[in-house]
Amino acid sequence: MPDPHLPERVRIVEVGPRDGLQNEKQPIDTATKVELIDRLAAAGVAYIEAGSFVSPKAVPQMAGSDEVFAGIDRQEGVTYAALTPNLKGLERAVAAGADEVAIFASASEGFSQANINCSIAESLERFGPVVQAAVEAGLRVRGYVSCIAGCPYEGEVPVSSVARVTADLVGLGCYEVSLGDTIGVGTPGQVRRVIAACADAVGVDRLAVHLHDTYGQALANLYGALQEGVAVVDSSVAGLGGCPYAPGASGNVATEDVVYLLNGLGVGHGVDLSRLIEAGRFISDRLGRDTGSKAARAAMSACRPPRHNS
Ligand code: HMG
Ligand code: MG
Repeated sequence: MPDPHLPERVRIVEVGPRDGLQNEKQPIDTATKVELIDRLAAAGVAYIEAGSFVSPKAVPQMAGSDEVFAGIDRQEGVTYAALTPNLKGLERAVAAGADEVAIFASASEGFSQANINCSIAESLERFGPVVQAAVEAGLRVRGYVSCIAGCPYEGEVPVSSVARVTADLVGLGCYEVSLGDTIGVGTPGQVRRVIAACADAVGVDRLAVHLHDTYGQALANLYGALQEGVAVVDSSVAGLGGCPYAPGASGNVATEDVVYLLNGLGVGHGVDLSRLIEAGRFISDRLGRDTGSKAARAAMSACRPPRHNS
């Protein structure tokens, strides 16, 4: 019996090809990125952040996002999105055929400077024309707020700062804002308080969560977010990921673990867990390491299909 306090359905935003691969030290060829994205789409993932049009000096792993977009076997009903920090990034995203773009701000000044080389206020000023140009090109814009539960440079981040930047992004025209625990330090009570404050500011229907798992709290935080009414969840296949400007942060909550949790809760999502696990196995093999998903590891070692599937 599904819990009436949880959303009936969750939209999964797969960020593995972007957040996951941006942080890899070893080079990853375009064909591997494309195959990962195509496997995720084949598993039923309907929203995939496929790349990032940022400075190649800042994030060399994403330098080939243009070729990645050109190589994808596009599936109907799947949104292929990209990060765009400025107008140059937006122009590249439009030329590459991205379906949607995302701008990314921070709730802490230290991370804003480290990540995008400007203050929070300057970033919001810079994003205005990006959103305008995106809308003119017919693209919806998603927003991110980083460091919602702590900053690698400043420590504590006031809830009011998160809510303010969230409201600013919605004011600029973002249809949704993803609240990022960039360094994975949050715990459920804290994350719920942040969500409640942001929901007061913009409405819970505009919120998503983006939870890195450094302290092993991501699934618990996610469950807390669902209880607050959040129905959009970012996650990363095989638990890949991190941010080059958030040293020591581990990957996002693994998509396989999210799907297993949602299956158990009776919350709809549209993803085939077995095929998702195969996609995670593919990229983990290519990267030469074990998957970061506990659900995938358990399902593979037990040599049997996972118990729940939808
Ligand atoms: P800047 O140095 O202040 O920018 O960087 P600039 O305008 O002075 O340009 C510097 C150089 O970069 C120039 O090249 C530009 O042409 C080039 P040069 O003349 O030196 O040869 N450039 C670009 N090239 C290609 N595409 C572009 C572009 N923009 C400039 N779009 C900037 C400012 C924002 C560009 C830079 O700091 C940057 O790219 N930062 C991105 C950092 C990033 O990608 N971080 C990871 C993603 S965010 C994240 O992971 C968090 C998230 O997951 C949520 C969470 O977990 O919290 C979303
Ligand atoms: Mg992230």
